[in-house]
Amino acid sequence: MAEAKRRTAVLISGRGSNLAALIAATKGESYPAEIALVVSDKPDAAGLAYARQAKIPASVVERRPAAAKTEFEERLDGELKEAGVELICLAGFMRLLSGEFVERWRDRMLNIHPSLLPLFPGLHTHQQALAAGVKVHGATVHFVRAEMDSGPIIAQGAVPVLPGDTPDRLAARVLRVEHRIYPLALGLVAGGRAKVIGERVTIEGARAVPRATLLSPSD
Ligand code: GRF
Repeated sequence: MAEAKRRTAVLISGRGSNLAALIAATKGESYPAEIALVVSDKPDAAGLAYARQAKIPASVVERRPAAAKTEFEERLDGELKEAGVELICLAGFMRLLSGEFVERWRDRMLNIHPSLLPLFPGLHTHQQALAAGVKVHGATVHFVRAEMDSGPIIAQGAVPVLPGDTPDRLAARVLRVEHRIYPLALGLVAGGRAKVIGERVTIEGARAVPRATLLSPSD
């Protein structure tokens, strides 16, 4: 009998292109995760359409004005419990979660960030990369820790910075890499192959660097 797939929630706030990439990956028969729930904190998030198309249950959990963060997180937790969620993927989810929430999901919550962390945490990463003059840029999938855009790194993908790049052109190149490394990273975690040891991730059975980790300039 095939192993049960890990029930995963994807949390979004906007466009949802990483959600779409994850949904596509979970269609693979041997892929070890399934998307059991999509949660958006914005009722008008375009990405909710991907959940609808794929017939995945989706909820909107808004932070009510003036309500405490804990109230928002309790409702979020309720949705996650009800759906029997085991893993969380933050995919363009624009809310900072409390230390308690992050701890509760320690090593079970992933985030994607559009830079080669620990370089350029925070917003406007492509602008930051261009301003710094780096020749290689990229994206990172990591386990979430309380400090923003930090935590053990599961997968990274790199792209070249090309002459004449604007933040938008660079963002588009990085996004293609994001869509490869997020499914890769979730697969490694859900399949039990990515283990956090001493705040670093060890990939079991990885003889070589996973294919999506280093990308050629033509990618
Ligand atoms: C991505 O660039 C992701 O790395 C960042 O927010 C963006 C979300 O894009 N955290 P999308 O909603 O997945 O299209």
